[in-house]
Amino acid sequence: MQEAVTVNPAVRVRRVKAADLPHVIALDTRVTKIAKAEYWNGIFSRYGKQRSDERFFLIAEGRVGQSAASFMGFIIGEIRAWEFGSSPCGWVFALSVEPKMRLHGIGSALLEAISAEFRKAGVSKMRTMVAREAHLPMLFFRSEGMMAGPYIQLEKELD
Ligand SMILES: CC(C)(COP(=O)(O)OP(=O)(O)OC[C@H]1O[C@@H](n2cnc3c(N)ncnc32)[C@H](O)[C@@H]1OP(=O)(O)O)[C@@H](O)C(=O)NCCC(=O)NCCS
Repeated sequence: MQEAVTVNPAVRVRRVKAADLPHVIALDTRVTKIAKAEYWNGIFSRYGKQRSDERFFLIAEGRVGQSAASFMGFIIGEIRAWEFGSSPCGWVFALSVEPKMRLHGIGSALLEAISAEFRKAGVSKMRTMVAREAHLPMLFFRSEGMMAGPYIQLEKELD
């Protein structure tokens, strides 16, 4: 894959390796306060090892200030087609950056890298979902040019 060096030249984006998984699990646990190692192991099997032309589990590494790190954050997404009547598009469903390394362009580099993968795979649109009260991801995605799309999510409590 092409490395995303346009946003922050000190940040490189690469495919996930098995050695990254403990870092992914630790970061997600710290951020969400919910430990879910089994979930992440399953995600790694499905998105880190299979169908790499349409599934992307990417890791940022590099340097922020004086500190170099082989793991700074991750993004995961895939190309999905014809669900809900939608033509093929890229979905981003997970993105997280180490809290101490935020606001240095790492999130942007990850989104740029997965956008490049989506374009290479032939799609011209990218989507994600953000909880209404989640201001930080909303600020981030809006700053990256993402806007409300044409679909409305519906749900109800199941008794
Ligand atoms: C959202 C997140 C991935 C952003 O990562 P990041 O590396 O800090 O983002 P960047 O440095 O690339 O920021 C890009 C732009 O996003 C916006 N942004 C990011 N963090 C922001 C903040 N705390 N306040 C305001 N704007 C912010 C800014 O416009 C920023 O550009 P600028 O620095 O030139 O002003 C990171 O904050 C994070 O991991 N949050 C927790 C997990 C999460 O919310 N994940 C997304 C949903 S799955």
